[in-house]
Amino acid sequence: MNKSIAQTNLSGLFVTGTDTGVGKTIVAAAIAASLRAEGLNVGVWKPVQSGEKIGSGLTDAERLLHLAGIEDRPEVVAPFTFEAPVTPMLAAKQSGVTLTLSELITAGEPLIDRYQALIVEGAGGVAVPLTEDAFVADFIYQLRLPALIVARSGLGTINHTLLTASYLKQFGVRIIGVIMNDIDNAEKISDPSIANNAELIERYSGLKVLGRLPHLPNEVDSETLIPIFRKRIDLAPIREALAVQTMGG
Ligand SMILES: Nc1ncnc2c1ncn2[C@@H]1O[C@H](COP(=O)(O)OP(=O)(O)OP(=O)(O)O)[C@@H](O)[C@H]1O
Ligand SMILES: [Mg+2]
Repeated sequence: MNKSIAQTNLSGLFVTGTDTGVGKTIVAAAIAASLRAEGLNVGVWKPVQSGEKIGSGLTDAERLLHLAGIEDRPEVVAPFTFEAPVTPMLAAKQSGVTLTLSELITAGEPLIDRYQALIVEGAGGVAVPLTEDAFVADFIYQLRLPALIVARSGLGTINHTLLTASYLKQFGVRIIGVIMNDIDNAEKISDPSIANNAELIERYSGLKVLGRLPHLPNEVDSETLIPIFRKRIDLAPIREALAVQTMGG
């Protein structure tokens, strides 16, 4: 979709996923927390969220801030929050707001100015409508950010991940890799597909699986998340992507 949108100097990574509820918030926060622990001034941005009210502690912005150990105000991290538990474009419409990609980007400018790089969390997956005429994939392309795909580790993930990767490629979005997430406790469920899913995704997509995040305890915070994430996930391709961008490459 052809829109002329002012160029931003945004550096960062867009964390998308194969579906809603696959672990984008946990992964985005873990990336931000891990990079911040290395001394990088990395922030988080959730351009639009729906389903909860700020103040509940349950919005993605609040969870991102808590898990990444950042002290921004949630209203700044998520400038567009709608309570209705429906796709953001409809939730906005029900509140009388017509979203445009330009407005979404403009609302992120305070964060873009303040941080060296932003870890941006999308809404749902790549084919979620964000505005009347743009999908999440259009938004990622307009932001000129590389994407990371969060995928379930269990049965069904090959199909969802390959579809997501192929859709992003059609939009011209560069994909850094895939992170598999044990949403379900792999030790408690019997899913023999898990052992081969990463390898098959790599083979058919040509993408790199950066690792598999284990099932985490409910009360996880940034202190406990960072060492687990570093042990299981290869952060090098993420660091490299951010370094190239911050050098202006
Ligand atoms: N590795 C994990 N171990 C245990 N629970 C997890 C794990 N990953 C995600 N969860 C839980 O699964 C739920 C969905 O995860 P999360 O909110 O990160 O998904 P999401 O992709 O960001 O969803 P949304 O589309 O709503 O933004 C949350 O309750 C989260 O705490
Ligand atoms: Mg989320």
